[in-house]
Amino acid sequence: MRSIQRRAFLTAGGAGLFHVLAARKGFTAQASSRRVVVHTEVPVGVIRPELHSHFAEHLGSCTYGGLWVGKNSSIPNINGHRRQAVEYLRALGIPVLRWPGGCFADDYHWRDGIGPAAKRPKRVNLWWGQYVEDNSFGTHELIELCRLIAAEPYIAGNIGSGTPQELREWVEYCNFPSGSTLSDERAANGSPEPFRVRYWGVGNENWGCGGRMTPDEYAARYRQFSNYLLARGGIGGTRVFLIACGPNRNDTEWTRRFFESARRGQAVVRDWGLHGYAMHFYSNSPVEAAKHTADTMRQQLASFAELEKAIQQQHALLRSYDPEARIGLLIDEWGIWDRMSPEEEKRYGRLWQQIPMRGALAAAMGLNVFHRQADKLIMGNIAQTVNVLHSMLLTEGPHCIRTPAYYAFELLKPHRGKTALRFESDERESVGLSVSVSRQDGELALTGVNPKPDESLQVECVLAGATAASGTARLLHHPDLNACNTFDKPDVVVPKDHRVEVTRERVRFELPPLGVATATLRL
Ligand code: AHR
Repeated sequence: MRSIQRRAFLTAGGAGLFHVLAARKGFTAQASSRRVVVHTEVPVGVIRPELHSHFAEHLGSCTYGGLWVGKNSSIPNINGHRRQAVEYLRALGIPVLRWPGGCFADDYHWRDGIGPAAKRPKRVNLWWGQYVEDNSFGTHELIELCRLIAAEPYIAGNIGSGTPQELREWVEYCNFPSGSTLSDERAANGSPEPFRVRYWGVGNENWGCGGRMTPDEYAARYRQFSNYLLARGGIGGTRVFLIACGPNRNDTEWTRRFFESARRGQAVVRDWGLHGYAMHFYSNSPVEAAKHTADTMRQQLASFAELEKAIQQQHALLRSYDPEARIGLLIDEWGIWDRMSPEEEKRYGRLWQQIPMRGALAAAMGLNVFHRQADKLIMGNIAQTVNVLHSMLLTEGPHCIRTPAYYAFELLKPHRGKTALRFESDERESVGLSVSVSRQDGELALTGVNPKPDESLQVECVLAGATAASGTARLLHHPDLNACNTFDKPDVVVPKDHRVEVTRERVRFELPPLGVATATLRL
């Protein structure tokens, strides 16, 4: 949703707000109307399924204890992978899974995680609590997990403490078909077929935990590493997609200096030797996950307007260096990052946070931003899949539950692969109705998010250039912004069927306070 369009629409006199008071489940909610005009013939860009991707690090109980319980665990598992997590994630659909970090990536040495598990070295996880890892989850386990959940792997390489040789050998180990010592070693470790890993990150947050480099230092290092990964068309016939470390949030200085420096080092500017450029954008809050107020929630959700602006500005900057659009912009890590509760971190591991109804609103608002900017983004990875930050699943012993964020992703799934459409909305607040709309063939998907805790929205959409024959909708809603799914009560926040009224070019539905709804229409 573009704010200029929003204002233009308002002055065009479309709003007609009305207010009524509606008693609802013990609280009084004010109701207002919102109008959205969808230009069904005006495409923004294809919503790549990869915009709904995920990130899993060796951090807290995301990988160890979360996704991976080990082959000898009493917890039901498939070759060591937690069965329930596999089933939930497969059902959700994880287009791409980024691993092993995060900060962990630039201190990870891949050879530690291959070969017989009993012989793998034990290493200290430097960044996340200095606990000892037995490396039982390594490259083969990642590939197996990705196959189980039908995700494409994205491996973040070690630039900070590793060498070009180490990363180049990891690519050869994964992708070279057969006949080299490394590919034969992979076969001896149980995988004769190459893994054909396409996405490779050349470092992570190299301005911070990944080596504390200046943009110029990182650019020089990037050139050196990519030189060996791309030599003569790549190693082993799989075309690798190299992703460079971009800025934290909208740090334009990092981007400018990185590209200026990278440009100086290239013989031909057309061939940057990089395919993706990845930003990180977290929505931080000084408040613990289950203790938010309407105000602290609003402050945190206001960051999604900043995210949208950051995407637009970083993309414009990227295009100023790459007018032929050879390099894609990614959001490698995003999501809500609340103040951690020391008790919960002690019990469940580092960066464990509950995901209440607020987390579903944030997830849906983030995905709406990605959809609206579909022409500028090629991937988005929420951090992190299980037990860490903005997670889809929480686990405790044998229990594995779906968070409200999982359901938000599920609700927005109909947009994947469709073409995002332009629209105008009469919403005037930055933390007000959030919308995305997309279309493919005869189907149109429309998601609305109402982040207001005390106002119900009657949404009327006008389909300019099309008529709808029928429609269905699903709603995720809870009147309490701190309501969450727990191991005792896993179904407190779950989606339900929702009423949508369709009369040719008009579609109406209600968005209760703290509600996310997707309507799917047959045109
Ligand atoms: O996702 C947690 C951490 O956040 C990652 O390790 C790092 O890349 C970022 O700062």
